[in-house]
Amino acid sequence: MKLLVVTDLVAGYGKTVVINGVSFDVELGQVIGLIGPNGAGKTTLIKAVLGYLKPWRGKILYEGNDVTGLPAHKLARLGIGYVPERGGVLRTLTVRENIELAASMSKHGGDKLKEVTKLFKIIEERKTQIAGTLSGGEQKMLSIAMALVMASKLMILDEPSAGLAPIMRKKVVEVLKKINKEFGISLVVAEQDPTVVLETAEVVHVIEMGSIVKSGKTHEIIKPEVLKEYYLGM
Ligand SMILES: Nc1ncnc2c1ncn2[C@@H]1O[C@H](COP(=O)(O)OP(=O)(O)O)[C@@H](O)[C@H]1O
Ligand SMILES: [Mg+2]
Repeated sequence: MKLLVVTDLVAGYGKTVVINGVSFDVELGQVIGLIGPNGAGKTTLIKAVLGYLKPWRGKILYEGNDVTGLPAHKLARLGIGYVPERGGVLRTLTVRENIELAASMSKHGGDKLKEVTKLFKIIEERKTQIAGTLSGGEQKMLSIAMALVMASKLMILDEPSAGLAPIMRKKVVEVLKKINKEFGISLVVAEQDPTVVLETAEVVHVIEMGSIVKSGKTHEIIKPEVLKEYYLGM
């Protein structure tokens, strides 16, 4: 079953077109990767899909329903979890308050809290710590946990590994695999660095200058030379 179908999406800021006719879909239980360089339009695409930015053209179907143009809070209510590039946690609240806030904002978040707490040790171990005092990697984990509490079938993650040390990036990979396998949640993972996508996604779309320029099975798209190019170009 197709969980999310995005067709010919066009979006931008002011009069500037940034996303120029993008189409992709996500099957139930699937992990897809969106890779592309800085400024390619990954964040803009995600914001247009999630209702933070009104699409100029195109169509978005979620579970078969037309959700094009719905505001972000309504899409969140449908159970689409979002891990933003930055600012996913409320820095002045404790870890516990953050996760409880996420649970209170979702329809069935309360039921999931226990399972999510089991997966993210940080929730128990650091429950009274102010979120802003966590390390970058810990804040990212908390942000992922919050999105999981709110997600029923789909999570969209905007550069979850950006700025993280290799060990933390590995933990992100592990946690994403578990979210997909154990919770049965489909994932859309946008990354500039192809490594997390390589280890998690089944299908990859390459986005450049607001368009998908290449799509295919992950191992066909992210070949060793692509990785080499990426690291040399950094
Ligand atoms: N709020 C904004 N206002 C105007 N232009 C923006 C805004 N945000 C991003 N852009 C522009 O849109 C393009 C795509 O950016 P973005 O979606 O952030 O790419 P990515 O996430 O792939 O790095 C860039 O040229 C960027 O400068
Ligand atoms: Mg971005």
